[in-house]
Amino acid sequence: MAEKTPTSTGSGPLRAVLLVGAISEYGFGQFVVRELIKSRHSFSRIGVYLDMNRDNAAKRPVLDRLKQAGIEVVHGKGFESPDPFTGFDCIMSFLGNYGLHLQPTLIDSAIAAGVRHIYPSEYGADILVGQNLTQRYYVEKVRTRRHLEDRGKDVPELGWTYVLFGRLTEWAVLSHFGFDNRAARAQIYGTPDGKQSLINATDAAAYIVKTLLDPFSLTDTRRTYRFSESSPTYATLFRTLKIVTGREYHVEYLDVEAAQVEEQAAKQSGNVDAELSASHKLIQGRQGTLLPLPWDNERFPSVTPSSLQDSLIAAFASPKLRKAYGLELLENAAA
Ligand SMILES: NC(=O)c1ccc[n+]([C@@H]2O[C@H](COP(=O)([O-])OP(=O)(O)OC[C@H]3O[C@@H](n4cnc5c(N)ncnc54)[C@H](OP(=O)(O)O)[C@@H]3O)[C@@H](O)[C@H]2O)c1
Repeated sequence: MAEKTPTSTGSGPLRAVLLVGAISEYGFGQFVVRELIKSRHSFSRIGVYLDMNRDNAAKRPVLDRLKQAGIEVVHGKGFESPDPFTGFDCIMSFLGNYGLHLQPTLIDSAIAAGVRHIYPSEYGADILVGQNLTQRYYVEKVRTRRHLEDRGKDVPELGWTYVLFGRLTEWAVLSHFGFDNRAARAQIYGTPDGKQSLINATDAAAYIVKTLLDPFSLTDTRRTYRFSESSPTYATLFRTLKIVTGREYHVEYLDVEAAQVEEQAAKQSGNVDAELSASHKLIQGRQGTLLPLPWDNERFPSVTPSSLQDSLIAAFASPKLRKAYGLELLENAAA
């Protein structure tokens, strides 16, 4: 691919940003778009990428809202062509688990388009701690980091930013992670003392926007930020859930290492969903989502992340999340 003249020198701040994988209604990227809209005056271009190879029928209301808010919708097909990425300083990927493997292609096309800064789809645990680096769940995130590092050898002005949070509170209590909010029950791999770092998605998104505006020099264009709010134990999490929901959760704690057997079985049967789920249990149970200190919160004192209790109160009051938590059915039954 012929390379275009770089859009930016790689020395930021990053004013023209394109978000990829940020249009799905329930995705984390939507939170970041909302926070970017609040700071729109600080950016010359804010775009979202619409992949015409996907089924986009349900995205119409989201797209209409974004257009009304002055967000540019950039069309393309897949990630092979550099054309849609031309003119942006920074590409931010919010691709989900099943799109993460496309990031090396996206990165190559962005570089060919002249983009010199990438935010890969991280936004979770620090994959360099504990055993995370070798866990199935992180295979594509690790591959993406290696790809960036390889490309960074040929393109010295290429920069990237890893933004790490531990876990996003709203996701941490989903049924996928063992929570049955309808029945107030949970199956947890680990013990009541097991910890994870939590921050709500809106506060996490606010920090991401701050990092885009954080000036950097030519020598520090490869950055890692860590932000979170607190690192509660499961015992604290369930105490807080009782305060928020008024219901005592019945919690069953399971042997973490049993998830290894589950992962192997899923791998043999070719069930990727089950494999990822088992791998996440291992990570979570071994405290792999506990974000190591120091965190970078104090660099951006204008963001004050909400407490765990306030974040859960907001989550359990949100109609969209109530539906995701299976609580809408409960209300319908009671009506
Ligand atoms: N730490 C945490 O607790 C936490 C929680 C949530 C998310 N995250 C992180 O945030 C990032 C985004 O996650 P998410 O849950 O928001 O993702 P998601 O909603 O599952 O997916 C985001 C986007 O990826 C696109 N995508 C998925 N598979 C694709 C494919 N094969 N080809 C093209 N596009 C594809 C989807 O497109 P369509 O809309 O067209 O399907 C969607 O727009 C991930 O890195 C995730 O690990 C972290």
